[in-house]
Amino acid sequence: MRKSEMLETKIGKLKFNNPVFTASGTYGSGKEYDDFLSLKKLGAVVTKSVTLKPTRGNPPPRVVETASGMLNAIGLQNEGIGYFIENLLPPLKKKADKIIVNVAGKCEDDYIEVVKGLNKSGVDGLEINISCPNVKEGGMAFGVCGKSSARLVEKLKKLTKLPLWIKLSPNVTDIAAIAREVEAAGADAIVAANTFLGMAIDIEKRRPILANVTGGLSGPAIHPLSLRCVYQVASAVKCPVIASGGVSSIRELIAFLLAGASAVEVGMMNFTEPAITIRLIEELAQWCKEHKTKVSELVGALEK
Ligand SMILES: Cc1cc2nc3c(=O)[nH]c(=O)nc-3n(C[C@H](O)[C@H](O)[C@H](O)COP(=O)(O)O)c2cc1C
Repeated sequence: MRKSEMLETKIGKLKFNNPVFTASGTYGSGKEYDDFLSLKKLGAVVTKSVTLKPTRGNPPPRVVETASGMLNAIGLQNEGIGYFIENLLPPLKKKADKIIVNVAGKCEDDYIEVVKGLNKSGVDGLEINISCPNVKEGGMAFGVCGKSSARLVEKLKKLTKLPLWIKLSPNVTDIAAIAREVEAAGADAIVAANTFLGMAIDIEKRRPILANVTGGLSGPAIHPLSLRCVYQVASAVKCPVIASGGVSSIRELIAFLLAGASAVEVGMMNFTEPAITIRLIEELAQWCKEHKTKVSELVGALEK
């Protein structure tokens, strides 16, 4: 079997060369990684969240290392949709095979305007972030409520032909129920999931380490939790699922595929190993060769 046949994956009508994508916020616009890898080799680049207006994010400290992971409370810092389209997107288009733009907002109208702005931008799809744990308005406030999530998806679906992937929050009682509601509202795919709400304390100062007090936990520590989310979501919906959370080796990546993910986003580990995505693609190809299988056969192939 050819390597390309072994690795390719489909999400709706989009075909990707391989199932290894970047996770939003860990690849600003890609240029940070120029010295380490060719973005063309990745299945897709998922951008940092883009909002309608420039957003400063939260005050520092806004990241802290934890056991096998990190907490972040960046708070969606970005230059806004106008700057993104004019300055960040053109060079990214030259470098990446597929571009998925992550969209965030404080209210429905923000999401609507950003999606309208991206309609003719030539990107391949949109990942709608209704799950940021680090902002007071919007973000997770949508994602923890099935009704508000579904209403937003319904509105966005009416104004774009671009595939809409909805990135869910894991900080809910029943992620499968929310997945079902957004699928019914028109989601083309579901991304499970964003970071887990956490906290760290400086015991000498007896104060929270993050200025925001709480932050989102990512990295290897969360993989079993994210895997459970992917499994529950994939069991509940018919649309494709994309996994996010704690991938540091092909063991976690393949577990996500078996649990039902058609592709896997790699986040925090890019900071410790900037070319990890390339290593994962190579190792996945080798593993498939040794096991005489291919990615499309692995998706949802968990035996119970
Ligand atoms: C520093 C940092 C910034 C992030 N920013 C965003 C963001 O802007 N939008 C978003 O949807 N997710 C964001 N995330 C969440 C990641 O995309 C990913 O879903 C999460 O970190 C879990 O994957 P990981 O364990 O592989 O990092 C961010 C994560 C980190 C570590």
